[in-house]
Amino acid sequence: AQDRVFFFSVDHAVGAPDGVQKPMLAVNGMSPGPTIEVNQNDRIIVHVTNHLENATSIHWHGLYQNGTNFYDGTSAITECGIPPGQTLTYNFTLGEFSGTTWWHAPYWHMLRRFHSVHGCSELVDSYLSPSGIDGTPGDEPVPDSGLLNGLGQWGQGGGYFDFTLNPNTTYRLRLINTGSFASIRFSIDNHPLTIIEADGTLVEPYTVSGVTLAVAQRYSVLIRTNQTQADGIFWMRTEIQTDMFTYDQPGQNTDIRGIIRYSNAPNPSAMPTAQDDPGPGVKNITDMDTARLIPAVQDVPLNRTRAYTVNVALENTSSGDFRAFFNGTSWEPLTGTSTLLSVRNAPTTFAPEGSSLNGDQFIITEDSIQTVDLIINNLDDGDHPFHLHGHKPYIMGTAPGRYVGQALNTKNPLRRDTMVIPAYNWMVLRFVTDNPGVWAFHCHIAWHMEAGLLMQINSLPSVAATLPFPQDILSQCGVPS
Ligand code: C2O
Repeated sequence: AQDRVFFFSVDHAVGAPDGVQKPMLAVNGMSPGPTIEVNQNDRIIVHVTNHLENATSIHWHGLYQNGTNFYDGTSAITECGIPPGQTLTYNFTLGEFSGTTWWHAPYWHMLRRFHSVHGCSELVDSYLSPSGIDGTPGDEPVPDSGLLNGLGQWGQGGGYFDFTLNPNTTYRLRLINTGSFASIRFSIDNHPLTIIEADGTLVEPYTVSGVTLAVAQRYSVLIRTNQTQADGIFWMRTEIQTDMFTYDQPGQNTDIRGIIRYSNAPNPSAMPTAQDDPGPGVKNITDMDTARLIPAVQDVPLNRTRAYTVNVALENTSSGDFRAFFNGTSWEPLTGTSTLLSVRNAPTTFAPEGSSLNGDQFIITEDSIQTVDLIINNLDDGDHPFHLHGHKPYIMGTAPGRYVGQALNTKNPLRRDTMVIPAYNWMVLRFVTDNPGVWAFHCHIAWHMEAGLLMQINSLPSVAATLPFPQDILSQCGVPS
């Protein structure tokens, strides 16, 4: 084990990643930001300096932060944000996590688009990220185009990210949808993709022609560079799923491409020729069906000791605002304090056990270790990619309609931290409240989080109150040393 030390400078930048110049946010001048590559028992130390005019923070998506909830990076929940001009040092370990994940700023700062963290060595990385987002009040802004490893195409402009790969070699691509809204289908002409990992869970190898990733989901896929097409040059395709949009953007490009070149290609700088054909290599192979992702190692959940039902709805309110609700509550971030600070000041702030409301905050509190089923009924006409911080819940079941006691998969449910609940479907998520602190559960679509689709799990508050809070975290919220 070793210490891995990083310095992140968060600042404005100007770039034209898809050919259109636009203001961007960057870390160390880079977008996508720097990759963190660490081994399982390493300590990750990141000195984050905020050069923006508003407070910000960095969330380490998918990590457990066991004993370090204050470094989860969720402004208004676990910290108050790094003030402009200041530095916060995050210091944590991967814990039980291994696999592919990423880091980003919370969306309620609208600071994002820098990516990645992964837990072990690999051959090739790939980060996907829609860009070109412009806000239209009252409606969900749809992307104009997307980026594959920081490059995309719009109109006549932009560029193609490319990999040069050796022939007859197996490569692992780590796919991350780092976008704000749309799901993406990733494929490579002629090359089947063998999925081996979903959000850090190893799955039985499953070969598909394309992988669909909702926002914040990750997959590792293996590809074999054994195709015999003479020019040895192939499209990588990132297709934005437009069924999520209520309108199309004029000039929108939903077919973002990159290039794979075999190192023995006769003309290595040629463009791919199979313009619109996925190619014979993937004929008769179907797209990924998430129901067919089976954990490679069986992991049997404990029996539930507690259950909560939450209904999800999105509405235009009478005042004309677009708001999103968990059981009728729509979250608004606290300012100048955090939920965790309330817990530290008074561990019994929220009801000792059960769900409670604190202003706009819907909070489930368990001050003993419980195995909780979160029963979610998505009553909305859209699909939502939900993410639970600090845990990797078991997906116990999902189907159309509302949950009324249908049988659950207690034998080999998949665990992952980001799962899509389709429109008008239910899903049951099971997790254990053994990780002290306050954990967000939210839709990872930026606009839905901003519209309030976030609730919190307050686990073991009497333990969380005694965690060794760093003074920097307290000072952010105005607590003197
Ligand atoms: Cu990717 Cu709340 O986070």
